[in-house]
Amino acid sequence: MPDVRLVNVTKKFGKIVAVNNVSLHVHDKEYFSLLGPSGCGKTTLLRLIAGLIQPDEGEIYIGDRLVNDVPPEDRDIGFVFQTFALFPHMNAWDNVVYGPRVKGFHVEKAETIGHEVLEMVRLHERLDAFPNELSGGMMQRIAVARALAAGAELLLLDEPLGQLDAKVRNELRYEIRRMVRDLDLTAMHVTHDQSEAMAISDRIAVMKKGKILQVGTPKELYMKPKSIFVAHFIGESNFLEGYVLSINSEGTVIELRGGIRVKSAEKNWKEGERVVLAIRPETFFVEKGVKKNKNSILGIVERVTFEGTNIRYEVRLKNQDLVVVIKPSMIGEWLNIGEKVTVSFPPEKAPVFAYPEVGLREEISVE
Ligand SMILES: Nc1ncnc2c1ncn2[C@@H]1O[C@H](COP(=O)(O)OP(=O)(O)O)[C@@H](O)[C@H]1O
Ligand SMILES: [Mg+2]
Repeated sequence: MPDVRLVNVTKKFGKIVAVNNVSLHVHDKEYFSLLGPSGCGKTTLLRLIAGLIQPDEGEIYIGDRLVNDVPPEDRDIGFVFQTFALFPHMNAWDNVVYGPRVKGFHVEKAETIGHEVLEMVRLHERLDAFPNELSGGMMQRIAVARALAAGAELLLLDEPLGQLDAKVRNELRYEIRRMVRDLDLTAMHVTHDQSEAMAISDRIAVMKKGKILQVGTPKELYMKPKSIFVAHFIGESNFLEGYVLSINSEGTVIELRGGIRVKSAEKNWKEGERVVLAIRPETFFVEKGVKKNKNSILGIVERVTFEGTNIRYEVRLKNQDLVVVIKPSMIGEWLNIGEKVTVSFPPEKAPVFAYPEVGLREEISVE
């Protein structure tokens, strides 16, 4: 229910700047994800909001309240961790009603809440079970139930699905999403899994090395990435390096390695600038033989991977760049290894970025 606001928040551990001058506004009732590679500061950010650690600089607000000096137990927050953090010596029921009991609620009220939340996570029939008798997915549902029973209005979830099998992970993410929506809670969900973040979030903040690179809806991040890193980390992108040759009313002509000229619809570039084109694998057209389309480049199919829904081609372009092309496997004819093809793409689906100072490889590195 509350919104969460961070203003210029920094947290250092010795020389490591785990969270670097982060400002962020998570709206009331929003399902918000922090997404980024391991070590980028996601957990530190959540722990700051929970009050488990203190910021070196900046302010944290939950609702209208500045909480920098408010202890964790007074922040009305529920925390769900990746590792199953239930009390091992208590059964599901005692785990769930622990919060209401500690808060000194009347026995009857505590029990009503316990029954309600266990129904909600559909584990009412397992209330006698101890954590070691429950599956990972069930334990996480109990963990969510425990947070809800304690009266949390803000749910902080740190890789809550990370330890689960793929099938359970997929089901539980929608279940948690549904509960948060039904109860009008605000949720902050930490994950390094972009498909998870894309599937459940109202908005996502993409983090790298303690900083937030971009905040947006899943669609905005996918369609309009503002940096090479986001274009790489959300979905997949092919990066083609080149120089701006000329600009005209239709867009920018870019010369790739090997003298290949292609066009992007973007116009805000200058002649001679070193740039990188980012093209989604599903944006490419690919056809057998030599074709003359807009932005067509000849190549040879080097690898074919059947992925079920999709078929994934690696095509070696004639300038030796390697690109990934993804096509629905049930539509059209498949291409074979060694086949000569023409790869092409529409100029309006080819965003251009400045070549990064640190180099392209370093820029997209997740280490
Ligand atoms: N208690 C700590 N002491 C020292 N360094 C820490 C501590 N917690 C986190 N770090 C460091 O801060 C950085 C961010 O860590 P973390 O927030 O856990 O990242 P993430 O959750 O995104 O994987 C990492 O370099 C990590 O090693
Ligand atoms: Mg973490």
